[in-house]
Amino acid sequence: MSAHTAPAPHSLADPAVGAVLADIAASAEHDEDVVRQAYATAAGWAEQPTPLQAAELCARAALPVAPEVGRFLYQLVRAVRPALVVEFGTSFGASTVHLAAALRDNGTGLVIGSELHPGKAARARANLERAGLAEYAEIRVGDALEQLADLPGPIDVLLLDGWKELYLPVLRTLEPALRDGAAVVSDNLPMLPPEFLEHVRGSAAGYLSQPLALGEGVELSLRTA
Ligand SMILES: C[S@@+](CC[C@H](N)C(=O)[O-])C[C@H]1O[C@@H](n2cnc3c(N)ncnc32)[C@H](O)[C@@H]1O
Repeated sequence: MSAHTAPAPHSLADPAVGAVLADIAASAEHDEDVVRQAYATAAGWAEQPTPLQAAELCARAALPVAPEVGRFLYQLVRAVRPALVVEFGTSFGASTVHLAAALRDNGTGLVIGSELHPGKAARARANLERAGLAEYAEIRVGDALEQLADLPGPIDVLLLDGWKELYLPVLRTLEPALRDGAAVVSDNLPMLPPEFLEHVRGSAAGYLSQPLALGEGVELSLRTA
C-alpha cells in the first residue's frame, strides 16, 4: 500500500479479495457449458451419477454463489460474530472468501469448508491464500457427511451449497452441533428437494425458516431448538 492509499473500509473492498472474486466470477462464465456437458455425458449412463461422479463431471465449474448472496454471507457473519462457520460445498471458494473476509473484519472465528473434489479444494485453498484469508479458513477434502462429523465447537452459521439432494442428510448430520440461534443459509432455493423445505419449514424440526429473494433464492432457517 502506498503512503497515500487509504486502507479498505472492509475486506470486500480489499483489492486482493476483489481480484480473487473476479477470477472466480470469470471462470464461472463457462459454467453453463460445463454443466450442459456433464448432463449430456450422464444422460447415457444406466444410473444417476454418484455425488463423486457429478463432482468429477463438474470439476471445471466454479458454480459460485451470486454476488448478492456473497455480500449477504459477509453481512450475516459481521452481524452474528460467529466463532464457527461451516460450509457444505466449497468449490473454488467464492462463498468461503466472503465468509473468511467477514471473520477477518470481526477479528475472530473460523470457517470450515468441505469439498468432494480434491482439485477444487486445492484451488479454493490457493484462492484463500491469495486473498490473504487463509488463517480464517480450513478446507476439508472429501464427503461433507464424513468430513464435517468432527467439529471444534458448536456451529453458529451453516451454509448449504453442495449437491442439492444432500442438503437434508448433511443438515440432519450437523443438527446436533447447531447452537440455539444458529443461522442456516441454503442456496439455490428453486432446486431444493421438497423434503428439505418441509423439514426446515415444518413445526417439528425446530427452525424458523423463510425464503429470501437473493440470487436465485435462498432459504434462511434460524435454529430454535
Ligand atoms: C455449487 S458448488 C459450491 C460453490 C461454492 N459454495 C462457491 O460459492 O464458490 C457445489 C460444490 O459442492 C461439492 N460437493 C458435492 N457433494 C459434496 C459432498 N458430499 N461433500 C463435499 N462437497 C460436495 C461439489 O463438488 C461442488 O464443487
